[in-house]
This record gives sequence, structure tokens and C-alpha cells, in this order.
Amino acid sequence: MKDRLSKIKEEAIADIKSLSNLESLENIRIKYMGKKGELTSVLREMGKLTKEERPVIGQMANEIRQEIEQELSEARERFKEKLKEERIEKEKIDITITKKTRKLGHRHPLVATIEELENLFISMGFSVVEGPEIETVEYNFDALNSPENHPSRDLSDTFYITEDILLRTHTSPVQIRAMKTMKPPLKIVSAGRTFRFDDVDDTHSPMFHQLEGLVIDEKVTMANLMDTIDIFIKQLFGKDMKTRFRPHHFPFTEPSAEVDVSCFSCKGEGCPTCDGTGWSMELLGCGMVHPKVLENCGIDPEKYSGFAFGMGIDRITMVKYGINDIRLLFENDNRFLEQF
Ligand code: PHE
Repeated sequence: MKDRLSKIKEEAIADIKSLSNLESLENIRIKYMGKKGELTSVLREMGKLTKEERPVIGQMANEIRQEIEQELSEARERFKEKLKEERIEKEKIDITITKKTRKLGHRHPLVATIEELENLFISMGFSVVEGPEIETVEYNFDALNSPENHPSRDLSDTFYITEDILLRTHTSPVQIRAMKTMKPPLKIVSAGRTFRFDDVDDTHSPMFHQLEGLVIDEKVTMANLMDTIDIFIKQLFGKDMKTRFRPHHFPFTEPSAEVDVSCFSCKGEGCPTCDGTGWSMELLGCGMVHPKVLENCGIDPEKYSGFAFGMGIDRITMVKYGINDIRLLFENDNRFLEQF
């Protein structure tokens, strides 16, 4: 009987080792340990044994059963593991698949400059407002006190859509819109496109950009204007930059001035770029808001005064980024734009 048991054990283990799937595992269990299984039938014959043999054989049979069970459960785990791996392999999705990549863009130097200027003025207490690029002749000229015969109104200088509607020639009509819709005190800037009939060259374009500023309050003086511009220029270009106010004429401001700043190349020493003067010319126009303009907008010039200024953003962008041709700003050539 001992021999039979050993043989059963050897065979069972060999059978388990040669298994190839989970289903046949169950067949093996039945073959040896089922009701009619080989081991079971040996155990059934225990009654035929002598009293002395019984415990010895019984112990041996138990051990063998445990061993076979152990082998079976190990094999079961192995198969389950294998099945799991196969399933994972089958369900795997290749997320590394290559697609056409899209490059992330960045701000155009002009837009970056506008944001920088706006942020600077916001830090000085200004609000940012917007105005339309298509304007009425009334807001673009009349309300701004520009006389009927002013050269800037000329057909050859301005893009008219109808007799009364045009592409704005400057951002100053935003002053009128702000004063008509907002009550003083007010402190605004507004940036955007402006249009003038101009032949294209490296510093001229029929479409360009301006930033307008307007401050209206009681007791606003020319000193406030000069101080505001001076602080702004120093913040934008550096502490050592100086400003110079030259008398000028604009119909909508009185007195009016044009502002020069220290030459960007030599910072005021005098160099070929500034013809030895040390100044960069005409960076912006400004002045005290004309009483007639205040009246046109329903603001009492006896009570309120204010200043306004307007500057070319394209020029500032060119200076800031070292660009020597305004056309480069509008051609949308990526080889150019990628540099910034
Ligand atoms: N609008 C003027 C221009 O385009 C600039 C300016 C704005 C001057 C505000 C004075 C005050 O030249």
C-alpha cells in the first residue's frame, strides 16, 4: 500500500507539472481526490489494514493529500497569474502613439508692449478702456475741437467710409467717449489701432497703434502731466531716462507739448542715431484738455481740468525690442516673430 501511495504521489505531481490550463487542473483534482479518485479509493481500503499499519498509512496518505493539494493550489495561482498577464497584454493601449504636434505660440511683441504699458498705467491708478476702430467724424474731429479745415481731416489723409464715418486717425476719440460716459474724476488709458493715409516705409504704415491717456479731476495741472509722463518713461525705459517737453499745437489740448526722451542708443551722450543731440524725438503728444472739449462732453471747465496724452506704440515696441523696420511687425513672418 505504501508503494501505491508513493506512486500516486509521483504521478499526481508529474500530472500537475505537465498541465497547460486551469480547466485540466480541476480534472486532476477529481482524478486523484474526487469521490472515485485514486487517493480516495486507497483511503477507502484502510479498513483492510491491521491496527498497527493503519496510523502509519493514514498519516502517509494525509501527507500525500496535503502535498497534492499544495501543488494544485500553487499551479492554480500560476495559471491565474498567467491569465492576468495575458489579459493585461491584450488590453494594453499604446498611449505613446505619435500625433502631429502643435507648437505653443506666444504674444506678438506689439501685444506684449501694449500689455506692459497698460500694466504700468494700471499700477499708477489708471483704468483700461476700449474704443472702436471705426469712428464718427464727430468724435474723431469735431468734439475734439478740430477745425473744419484742419489738414488731418483731408480726404488724402484719412480713410473715410462715409462722409460721417471713418477709420479713426488717432485714439483721442476715446477721450470723448470716456468723458461722455464716465463722470469725473476719471483716469483712463486706451490702446488700439489707428489709421492714416501713409506711404509704407521702414517707419510708416497706414495702420499703426496708439495709447491714449486721459485724467480729469478738480485742480489737475500741467505739473501733474509732466510728472506722470516722467514717471512713466522712467519705469518703461529706465531710471536714467530724461524727458523734455517742447511746445506744440493740438486742437484738443491747450497748452500742448511734444515729449522727447533721452536717446535710446546713447542715453543722452550724443551719438549718430540722435544726430549728436542726445534726444529721441517726438515720443508722444500731450497737453491740458481744451476747455471747449470738456464743454463738448458736458463737463464744467470752471470746476474740472485735465490732461491727455497719446503715444505711438509701434515706435516704443521697435525701441524696446531693437526692431528697425515697422513692416516686420505686420508681416506675420514666423521666422521673425519666433525671436521674441
Ligand atoms: N492724438 C494726437 C496724435 O495722434 C496725440 C495726442 C493725444 C496729443 C492726446 C495730445 C493729447 O498725434
